[in-house]
Formats: sequence, C-alpha cells, structure tokens
Amino acid sequence: MELYIDTANLDEIKRAHDMGVLDGVTTNPSLIAREGVAYEQRLAEICEVVSGPVSAEVIATDFEGMMAEARERAKIAPNIVIKLPVTPAGIRACKALSDEGTRCNMTLCFQAMQAWLAAKAGAFLISPFIGRLDDISTDGMDLIHQIRTIYDNYGFSTKLLAASIRHPRHMLDCALAGADVATVPFKVIDQLLKHPLTDVGLEKFLADYRAAFGS
Ligand code: G3P
Repeated sequence: MELYIDTANLDEIKRAHDMGVLDGVTTNPSLIAREGVAYEQRLAEICEVVSGPVSAEVIATDFEGMMAEARERAKIAPNIVIKLPVTPAGIRACKALSDEGTRCNMTLCFQAMQAWLAAKAGAFLISPFIGRLDDISTDGMDLIHQIRTIYDNYGFSTKLLAASIRHPRHMLDCALAGADVATVPFKVIDQLLKHPLTDVGLEKFLADYRAAFGS
C-alpha cells in the first residue's frame, strides 16, 4: 500500500518526506485555504519537495471550467494529478483529460458505482472517503471492500486511494482490504509508530546498556 499525506502544510510534508516513506500528496481546497497562501503557489511549493503524485483540485463545477483549470494546474509540474469531483461534469472531464494523458484523481466518492464510472472514464485514482461515511453512522470500510471487488472483477487499473482516514485502525483495515494507496493527515502517520511497549522496551534497553557500559 502506498502512503500519501493529506495536507497542504509544507512543514508536515517535509517531515513525512524526510522519513523516506512518502509516495505522494493529496490536497483539497479546504486544506490549502487554511495555509493562507496562494492556491497555485502552494501546489508548486509542494511539487518542489515531493516527486510522486500531487493532487490539485479544480474549483470549477462545469466541464469547460474544469478543463481550463486542469490545463493550468497541469503546467505547475509534471507530477500534478488533477482532482475532480465524481459529478457528471467531473466524469466527462476525467475522460477527456485521461485521453490526453493527464492523470486524474476522482474525489468525493461515497458509493461504489461512482468509483465504477470513474474507472471507466480512465481515472488514475479514486478517492472514497471513509471517515465522512463513519461520521454519518455508516461503515466507510464497506465502500473500500466493494470498490476493491468491482475493480478486481473487471481488471480496472484505477488505483483505490482510501481517503478521509482518521486513525491507525482505518489504515490497518485499508491494508487488509487491499487499498492501493492510503492518504492520511500527518497526525496519523505519527500515530502509526506509537506503541507503549515500544517506548517501555526502548527505555529498558537504554537503562540496561547504561548500567553495564556507562553512558
Ligand atoms: O482530501 C480528502 C479527504 O482525505 C478529506 O478528509 O478528514 O476532511 O474527511 P476529511
């Protein structure tokens, strides 16, 4: 499973990148808005740090507007992936852009047939939102399992990118379900390495070493 970070915060992106395990970045308008910098400027700054796919979402909701914005965003760097909502205009733009060789990430996916249409339109990534489904008392993981089955049944190459991940348990379930990519906030990357027995064990190793060999 590939690891993307879901943020537009440069410091968090650099810290995750420095760990050497980061495969890409996803952003959205809400994440960039909270950074207080120009939209395209931040996307360019992210692409200077990360060479893997960087998702850049369009703001337009009509086909022509999406295409115009996508072409501008694609000029920022070769690793930009155009992020589009799974609406009729978004699917149409995905098909047109994919046919031109521009990679697309179809976002705001909340039911499996949206993912099926995205794959038919040639999407590079599909982004089902687990946490937001859990938030309304449904099981977001069901959607991951359904999309995995549909994509495997028909041999679609669209990558299943699990999004809206809130905690390490989501990550574990995504890995077991066969998600191709998980995109997570920095906090969750940090949480993945936390275990009290790791901390206690390390403390004891160091204490035993100091007792036997000095500091
Ligand atoms: O970037 C899309 C997605 O990961 C958003 O997550 O936590 O706002 O539901 P969240």
